Order: sequence, then structure tokens, then C-alpha cells
Amino acid sequence: MNFHTRKWVKPEDLNPNGTLFGGSLLRWIDEEAAIYAICQLDNQRVVTKFMSEINFVSSARQGDIIELGITATDFGRTSITLRAEVRNKITRKSILTIEKMVFVNLGADGVPAPHGRERIRYADEAYERYRQAVQTSADATAMAAAANEAERLAESEDASVH
Ligand SMILES: CC(C)(COP(=O)(O)OP(=O)(O)OC[C@H]1O[C@@H](n2cnc3c(N)ncnc32)[C@H](O)[C@@H]1OP(=O)(O)O)[C@@H](O)C(=O)NCCC(=O)NCCS
Repeated sequence: MNFHTRKWVKPEDLNPNGTLFGGSLLRWIDEEAAIYAICQLDNQRVVTKFMSEINFVSSARQGDIIELGITATDFGRTSITLRAEVRNKITRKSILTIEKMVFVNLGADGVPAPHGRERIRYADEAYERYRQAVQTSADATAMAAAANEAERLAESEDASVH
């Protein structure tokens, strides 16, 4: 699981107990998961369908830096299932886990539509395709297309499409 997003816990994020308000955390994790689903499915029209039990494992306090992690655990026909974890960036102590978040891929009509994906997409896959084209093909057009794709994806910070 990659922890791509960091948040700094500020006064406006606190509950009356002086610790991180669960609603703030859920808003952040829902947005993080939606962005992940959008990138994986290559479609802006995805909606949250289902969330399993949310386990607030430990609290965070003002000034803490926390990080949000998402990974895909299953690809359905129109849905994608994700697992989420939030942890303290410094201590790595777990703050929240959600075992199952289901997002549904919608068509332009707002109806669930097949997304055609079967597994997590990684940015370095494009690079691999490029290397294979270099080694096995004299097809200049295919090589140029693969190189362009590799260059575009290399601009993203990490290996996975997130
Ligand atoms: C998302 C929505 C269009 C899906 O409609 P639906 O009639 O349930 O659609 P389907 O029965 O075709 O199911 C769509 C997918 O969701 C999955 N799904 C449906 N209910 C589910 C549930 N309770 N738990 C897990 N997955 C579920 C189905 O298995 C299917 O996935 P698959 O195609 O990969 O097998 C509809 O429920 C909706 O608009 N919900 C509100 C979404 C929303 O506003 N979210 C909050 C803001 S983003």
C-alpha cells in the first residue's frame, strides 16, 4: 500500500476532546479513495457505493502529520474495491482502517458501466512496454507511442497510478 497523501492536523480538524474529528478523517479518506478509483479506472464518474466497518484504531492530535494509504483489492465488472489505512507519518502507528470501500464506475448516463480493468495499473508498466518494443520490434510507430506514454507516466512521482 502506498501512502501518497499527507495531512497536518489543524485546530479546525479537532473534536471537543481535542483530538482529530472522525468526520474530517472520513472526508479526507473518501476523497483520497475516489481519486485513486478515478486514476485506476480512468474515469471521473465514480461514486462511493459501500464502506465496511470503520475502525478508529488510535487518535491523532493537533500538529500531528498523518498519511493516507489506499490500495485496490478487487476489480469487479463495474466496481472497484479498495482498502484504506491512515497512520501517523512519524511513528507509523495506525489511526484508521477500512477493509472495504466499493466505488462504482458510471457511464455518461449515470448508470453503472463496465470499466474493463482487472488489476492495479502501474506507471512503470508503460516503461516495460517501451523496453520490450525496443528489444523486439523495429516498428518505429509503436516505439514512439510507447516512449510517449512512458514519458508521460514517468512524470508522476511514484510507480503506481494513484
Ligand atoms: C452507485 C449506484 C449507481 C449503483 O446502483 P446499483 O443499482 O446498486 O447498481 P448495481 O446493482 O448494478 O451494482 C453496481 C456495482 O456495485 C456493486 N454493489 C452494489 N451494492 C453493493 C454493496 N452493498 N456492497 C458492495 N458492492 C455493491 C455491485 O456488485 C456492482 O459491482 P460489479 O459490477 O463489479 O459486480 C447507486 O447505488 C447510487 O447512485 N448510489 C449513490 C451513490 C452516491 O451518491 N454515493 C455518495 C457520493 S459519491
